[in-house]
Amino acid sequence: MIKGRTLQLRALEKADLLFLHKLHNNYKTMNYFFEEPFETVRELEDLYEKHVHNSTERRFVLEEVATGNSVGVLSLVEIDEINRKCEIDIIIDERFQGRGYGKQGFILGVKYGFDVLNLFKMYLVLLAHNEPGRKVYQFAGFKKEGRLKKEFFLNGKYVDAERMCLFDYQWKKIKVQLNEYVGFESPDELPLRSRAKYPANQDVRLAS
Ligand SMILES: CC(C)(COP(=O)(O)OP(=O)(O)OC[C@H]1O[C@@H](n2cnc3c(N)ncnc32)[C@H](O)[C@@H]1OP(=O)(O)O)[C@@H](O)C(=O)NCCC(=O)NCCS
Repeated sequence: MIKGRTLQLRALEKADLLFLHKLHNNYKTMNYFFEEPFETVRELEDLYEKHVHNSTERRFVLEEVATGNSVGVLSLVEIDEINRKCEIDIIIDERFQGRGYGKQGFILGVKYGFDVLNLFKMYLVLLAHNEPGRKVYQFAGFKKEGRLKKEFFLNGKYVDAERMCLFDYQWKKIKVQLNEYVGFESPDELPLRSRAKYPANQDVRLAS
């Protein structure tokens, strides 16, 4: 789990499949995802069982810290340990869009990829006209890598897509700023309340 001030990223559990089912059957959302808005609960359950031990993907739920509400999902897929790269994607539930959750959730996912999985490159594919998506990705430092002509058949016609990416050396330059933006709690430091338990001059290390 990675926790920011407002949102946290936690592993997707079987109990989240009904939430996922709702997102994956939304025509508008799936249009931006180049996928058919058709997935049964049974299909999702089967996929969940099949992939639960699959190390080439990490599926997360984005959860509001204050309420525990699930506001979206974020996935790292095609995790490639040799080339140290993966694809990232995000969906924010329509009811929670436009509140900054897309930006915050996406940054938490990027952080997980670079700072936890030690990836070298993260990439994504978006519809050329997906402006909210583009704003989110540019905010997190992603840059256009190329254009894929007539890549997807959506809503009765072929449309162009773009691929964007971010490298670890670029992430390192902006991560302090982005960590601050999401209010990331660093595990490097003990929370103040824990530190207060130990007097300043007491050595709390275990004797060797
Ligand atoms: C893309 C998506 C994740 C953005 O989530 P969100 O929570 O609405 O995003 P935020 O509130 O963080 O807003 C991000 C930016 O997009 C803008 N935005 C949000 N909705 C918008 C809309 N309908 N039209 C234009 N801009 C919009 C916001 O104003 C903000 O811009 P700013 O940085 O200039 O203020 C969300 O719209 C979504 O899930 N869409 C469907 C699935 C999808 O497209 N996924 C990405 C596939 S590549």
